[in-house]
Amino acid sequence: MSKFWSSLARQVNPYIPGEQLNDETIIKLNTNENPYPPSNQVIQAIDKESKNLRLYPSPTIDELRSEIGNMYGLSQDHIFIGNGSDEVLAFSFMAFFEPGKRIKYPEITYSFYPVYAKLFNISFEQIQLNDDYTIPVEHFYDSDGGLIFPNPNAPTGIYLELEEIKRIIENNPNHVVIIDEAYIDFAKESAVSLIDTFPNLLVIQTMSKSRSLAGLRIGFAIGNPELINGLERIKNSFNSYTVDRLAIAGAIEAIKDNKYFQQTTSKIIESRSYLEKQLEARHFDILPSQANFLLVSHKEVNAEILYQKLKKQGILVRYFQKPGLENFLRISIGTPEQIDKLLKKIDHIIKPSP
Ligand SMILES: Cc1ncc(COP(=O)(O)O)c(C=O)c1O
Repeated sequence: MSKFWSSLARQVNPYIPGEQLNDETIIKLNTNENPYPPSNQVIQAIDKESKNLRLYPSPTIDELRSEIGNMYGLSQDHIFIGNGSDEVLAFSFMAFFEPGKRIKYPEITYSFYPVYAKLFNISFEQIQLNDDYTIPVEHFYDSDGGLIFPNPNAPTGIYLELEEIKRIIENNPNHVVIIDEAYIDFAKESAVSLIDTFPNLLVIQTMSKSRSLAGLRIGFAIGNPELINGLERIKNSFNSYTVDRLAIAGAIEAIKDNKYFQQTTSKIIESRSYLEKQLEARHFDILPSQANFLLVSHKEVNAEILYQKLKKQGILVRYFQKPGLENFLRISIGTPEQIDKLLKKIDHIIKPSP
């Protein structure tokens, strides 16, 4: 605490990101990054664009918006681009949620939501999940000030069917419903198809997970042009160039190289079911995930101990010291080789040789 801090700087509760270690020998399965590198097309485009760094980037980012729009059969005025979906989320809280009106989000969910709520002075109600960790749909009806949840939810990985999402939106006609689809490319289907029907639906996606670009920082929102304009108003009151030239150039190619995206995404989905089966055989309970991670707990070995022992042996997974998650580990899906190394270490920890 410093006497120079504003009351805002004193009050906020900053988000604590997963560890980023500078040791390349560590197998990093703690922040849901993609284990595969970005497409070569992306690298080449970034290299080429670096010659233009003298110039400011496009403040309207038309080409990338149009590429993303085409992917979903929508015009570019349905698309907003930000510096990672975290930034898009922050702008959305500012653009659509009102201080004094309570928003809803699940009690177990992405831990940035309470951080933004506090930062923007928005009150909230945390909705308890069902006993099986699914979202209790009816409890999201009739919110005071809007609502947000990830689909699939994080860190559970559990997917909510579109029919259920539709019911939630129908029961909140006067408020914005934000679906954070950070992991949707590993799941059944996106809620983007509902955008034409519901002017109050905002879908947020990222290139950090399925497009292997966590380091480039590109996130985007898809919604009715009225909502997109609201986001533009906030962005242009803050920084007109939140997305840089290299990121724009790389992201355009990441969308264009659909073949590479399909290949890497399918490999991760295959590895997810492999890891699930292998962990089940080792007496883990596993939530049914449609994301690029599994939330697991071992029937006998305590999660924090397992986390620490894995870390000592060069494998980083995510442990949350939070109510309801004390005995869970979140494991990002790695390459088959990384998964095999993880399983060997787990075998060693849970069945130490005599
Ligand atoms: C549910 C959810 N939303 C948003 C994000 C932020 O992604 P990014 O800012 O990298 O686009 C994450 C990152 O882990 C996430 O888990």
